[in-house]
Amino acid sequence: LQRTFIMVKPDGVKRGLIGEIIKRFEQKGFTLLNAELMTINRTKAEYHYTEHKDKPFFGELVDFITSGPVFAMVWEGENIIEVSRLMIGKTSPAEAAPGTIRGDFANTKAENVIHGSDSLLSAEREIENFFGLLKRNIADDDFRYEDRQSM
Ligand code: GTP
Ligand code: MG
Repeated sequence: LQRTFIMVKPDGVKRGLIGEIIKRFEQKGFTLLNAELMTINRTKAEYHYTEHKDKPFFGELVDFITSGPVFAMVWEGENIIEVSRLMIGKTSPAEAAPGTIRGDFANTKAENVIHGSDSLLSAEREIENFFGLLKRNIADDDFRYEDRQSM
């Protein structure tokens, strides 16, 4: 099973889309391992988007992602990295298909409601950046979901 980092961005939180997004991932049969509403500082944001540090929109991107609370989550499931990117949809609103989260809810390239890791390596790095190694290990593979819900 794979794990991925999914984040409702500040625009999605402000628009009340957290529940809608959780619902879609639950309906797909994925398992929520961790979640937290948090406002992140520029250091965490810059590390998260480090692959874009030389892009002209990097400053704007960091301003946006630190502009209000995000809802950070760790989800687990079969091929979840690839499947969640399909559920999220393309970055550009003109290309995001109806039925995808961005296709249904996003109208700009910059403020596009949701982030999802694009590879195993970035998932691992992003989960650690937002939740740290300790919290990540709390949701261990042999720790059953039924037990987790009753805690
Ligand atoms: P993420 O899941 O957020 O990483 O989106 P993505 O993988 O679909 O797109 P990418 O990694 O290429 O870009 C990261 C984020 O930068 C996008 O989701 C947008 O929020 C933002 N972004 C991309 N292009 C632009 C742009 O031209 N201007 C601005 N202001 N932001 C942009
Ligand atoms: Mg990306």
